[in-house]
Amino acid sequence: MLLRDVSINRLVDKKKGTINPIIFSDPDIYQQELELIFARMWLFVGHESQIPNPGDFVRSRMGEEQVIVTRGRDQQVYVLLNSCAHRGNMVCRYDQGNALAFQCSFHGWTYNSTGALVNLPPGSEEAYAPDLRKEEWGLLRARVELFNGTIWATWDHSAPSLVDYFGGSEIYMVPPLLDAEGEDSGTEVLGTVMRWRVGMNWKLPMPDNDTTHFRITHRSALAVRRQYQDDGPRPPRPRQNYHVWFPEGHTTTMSLEDVGDEVLLGNDDPVVNEYLRERYETRKKRLGKLAYRMELPHIFPNMGAVGRCVRVLHPQGPTETEMWSWFLVDKNAPAEIKAAFARGEELARGPGGMIQKDDMENWAIQTQYSKYHMTRTRLTFNAQLGLSQASLHGPTSFGLPGMFDSSPTDANIRGFYYRWADVMAAKDWGELRIDNPAR
Ligand code: FES
Ligand code: FE
Repeated sequence: MLLRDVSINRLVDKKKGTINPIIFSDPDIYQQELELIFARMWLFVGHESQIPNPGDFVRSRMGEEQVIVTRGRDQQVYVLLNSCAHRGNMVCRYDQGNALAFQCSFHGWTYNSTGALVNLPPGSEEAYAPDLRKEEWGLLRARVELFNGTIWATWDHSAPSLVDYFGGSEIYMVPPLLDAEGEDSGTEVLGTVMRWRVGMNWKLPMPDNDTTHFRITHRSALAVRRQYQDDGPRPPRPRQNYHVWFPEGHTTTMSLEDVGDEVLLGNDDPVVNEYLRERYETRKKRLGKLAYRMELPHIFPNMGAVGRCVRVLHPQGPTETEMWSWFLVDKNAPAEIKAAFARGEELARGPGGMIQKDDMENWAIQTQYSKYHMTRTRLTFNAQLGLSQASLHGPTSFGLPGMFDSSPTDANIRGFYYRWADVMAAKDWGELRIDNPAR
């Protein structure tokens, strides 16, 4: 069954601000997402610091499938489907390493770092001739673009450029990708990528930057934090809080109050705070009013973020998702600062972290319930908070990209799911380009 146009638009009702629960478990909708979303959109696949030298590679995912992210002899980054062009076997079986060639373990077809087929099993080259032309049998190669150290790929060669795809949200991506002094290429991935599976639909944590859930879902974590923070000064809570969304489906949150370094220094660790404080003046000179930001935006379809941690949601079936986290840290920071960053991230944002596991329980239950008869046939999910309040156009109102809605609001949820519906209904990129960008 193909759901298109009218059907999809009924599943996400833009007039009412409602979402049909079946989009979180229906196998037909999921199959269409693999083609219409994961085979067409730009996807985050890694960070350049993971593959600094020619031959370095890491495995990553695009949608359900594995890709090899590698640096060739020419220093270029290549993203290759980890599926042999001969008969589909996995070509690379290691998570990371250094290799300028990948030999398939089935019949020995061998590919170089650009994905080109360079060697056939001994004696077979003559037997294949004249039918097999090697240049036509390389690994499937994605289109790749880099942004401040991050690596992105798409299977769709008609997709817009990466920056056009970001639609202005890249302004908010830059500050957390710079180091504490605002230095370009100053960040690296800390350790290896953390990965775990949750029995949930991949969309449910997108977006996770709706501030309305925080004080309820994470109440116990906040209580613990308050307990051990009682003696120290607490950063002021900004009053002018906005949810910022883009017609392209990207979202973030933003304070327009000039709270300066107090927001940046909201880290619980005094050693980290001291490190950031010492560098803040330099950072402010370089970045101006966005200097305090250490929060990456969410990028449609599946790059979420918590602070400086990139969190990507890889679908593994309609009700199964693999979560991958890349923790970014200042490349030139002393080892004790990196260790302190790591401790903070693990305590809060790892799979057993105090914040992350609160969310995961809700998402898994939502997924399960979206399969139950009464929920899927009688309920619609509500995203009406602030629906009748007009969004402010960021560029004309504040000189900043994005559409602004004051908190509390479901504007970010609507921004994501309205784009999801548009992408699922569009035949090609010609129908998806945004005429009135919020940049
Ligand atoms: Fe890879 Fe045959 S499947 S060489
Ligand atoms: Fe949360």
